[in-house]
Amino acid sequence: MSSNSLKRLEGKVALITGGASGIGESTAKLFVQHGAKVVIADIQDDLGTSICEQLGGHETISYVHCDVTSDSDVRDAVDLAVSKFGKLDIMFNNAGVGRLETSILESSNENFKRVMDINVYGGFLGAKHAARVMIPAKKGCILFTASVLSVMGGFSEHAYVASKHALVGLAKNLCVEMGQYGIRVNCISPHGVATPLLIKETGMEKEALESLVSEEGVLKGEVLEAEDVAAAALYLASDEAKYLSGVNLMVDGGFSITNPSLSLAVKSRLS
Ligand SMILES: NC(=O)c1ccc[n+]([C@@H]2O[C@H](COP(=O)([O-])OP(=O)(O)OC[C@H]3O[C@@H](n4cnc5c(N)ncnc54)[C@H](O)[C@@H]3O)[C@@H](O)[C@H]2O)c1
Repeated sequence: MSSNSLKRLEGKVALITGGASGIGESTAKLFVQHGAKVVIADIQDDLGTSICEQLGGHETISYVHCDVTSDSDVRDAVDLAVSKFGKLDIMFNNAGVGRLETSILESSNENFKRVMDINVYGGFLGAKHAARVMIPAKKGCILFTASVLSVMGGFSEHAYVASKHALVGLAKNLCVEMGQYGIRVNCISPHGVATPLLIKETGMEKEALESLVSEEGVLKGEVLEAEDVAAAALYLASDEAKYLSGVNLMVDGGFSITNPSLSLAVKSRLS
């Protein structure tokens, strides 16, 4: 294969929210490797700027301060992608927050609103402003980072699980409306990845967290990394996925299709 055919996003322009860290950062790096021009939109300015410097600077990648809960910030980020790189092909709504606490009685109302604001309203604003420039172009790809918790309960706070279920609903509805304009809309749903988000929440070291997720997973012998989620985003954003829309792509090694509770209970009774 020629090096060009390995560049699966040659000529495309992508905007990645939450691109300064974790899954978004890995995706920004992979997209640039595959020939895309990228705008990273985040609130961690130092990290975002330094990633752009590492990846070759202004010709290829730019950072913009953007709080995804602010309509004007998201509008400006989309407009920056268009003014700097000429268009917007890929809108990756990836910024998100969440906690592990699970008790409804201990959940603060403010936190519930904040999580929904960032994870759902932020995704809505990203889709809305992307649609504004993609509809006239009659093409585009809108992606959301949901989670394995978009199809399961437990493991995390109510706000997070509700927000990730909501994103899938938003993506489905957008998929139906956007299809007439040639715009594809999909979700990516990873299992636990040892990014700063999860490391901070669990207080565990990266390696310990990775081996925990790996041991508890269905698929043995592999560790889920941010790069694996980026690879799923690359596929969905590329022309190889030209007829995929309305999909919630689980990147979870089969974790979400099983429930080990019964077999664990049986094993413990028999032991
Ligand atoms: N790490 C996991 O186990 C896991 C699993 C499933 C889904 N996810 C989802 O993946 C996405 C990325 O998370 P991550 O694990 O890479 O975490 P991360 O903390 O490394 O990255 C999240 C990024 O979002 C940014 N962000 C937070 N609030 C923002 C706001 N208001 N405006 C703009 N940017 C904001 C942060 O600054 C950070 O750079 C999130 O949507 C998360 O819910 C993560």
